[in-house]
Amino acid sequence: MSRYALGVDIGGSGIKAAVVDVDAGELAADRVREKTPKGARPGDVAEVAASVVQQVLAAGPEPTTGPTVGVGFPAVVQHGVTRTAANVHDDWVDAPAARLLTEALGRPAVVANDADVAGLAEVRFGAGRDVEGTIVVTTLGTGIGSALFVDGRLVPNTEFGHLEIDGEDAEKGAADSAREREDLSWKDWARRLQRYYALLELLLQPDLIIVGGGVSKKHDKFLPLLELRTPLVPAELRNEAGIIGAAVMAAELDTGGRTDDTPARDVA
Ligand code: BGC
Repeated sequence: MSRYALGVDIGGSGIKAAVVDVDAGELAADRVREKTPKGARPGDVAEVAASVVQQVLAAGPEPTTGPTVGVGFPAVVQHGVTRTAANVHDDWVDAPAARLLTEALGRPAVVANDADVAGLAEVRFGAGRDVEGTIVVTTLGTGIGSALFVDGRLVPNTEFGHLEIDGEDAEKGAADSAREREDLSWKDWARRLQRYYALLELLLQPDLIIVGGGVSKKHDKFLPLLELRTPLVPAELRNEAGIIGAAVMAAELDTGGRTDDTPARDVA
């Protein structure tokens, strides 16, 4: 019988959660989404996360692996504490995120970087399964998230969205939000992505680059325009990767299963 765990994905624009079949690596029921509250202050975000989780639990099925909720968050997260705040309120810098969310959700929350948990899902169940060597997973959204895996093992909190290009954070010009904000054509956006991925390739010499985030469902519009030596493939779990990876992390904490490459091992 499949095991179910609860995953939450907190993003710059939406907060999503679902019960996940952690053996199959897919949602066990529809996800619930609410808008990220304006300003994305810690208390407000925790409140909306609690509302989303409540709706998911009310709809069922029940999580079976234990009480822990896995949460992906768009910042550096070390031992349950958020260290940066690129696209959320500054109050998240050094905030005890795992403790705040544990209190708000009424269940133990384990928190890790959003791209790290999305990457975990892609490497276990998606475009990176059975691939050895160095894999970089990038998520193109409000910012650019990154996750680095070496033979299936995560190097957490890599933050490659903040590599510098022309003296600017790469994500400022190359994230999907930049494409939307500046109303760029696919061709013009691809030119920026080309510089970004060429830099990643130069610095890391990976065996595979996976491109995720919501826009990856339109990968045929921009991936064929990029020229790299490294295979560059769309994420397979698309925008659900964050929820799935967060739930896998929670399940492994609760069941004492494979934890070698889970992003965070400590619950507040
Ligand atoms: C943040 C990362 C995050 C990424 C995607 C960046 O601005 O610094 O921590 O993973 O956005 O949300």
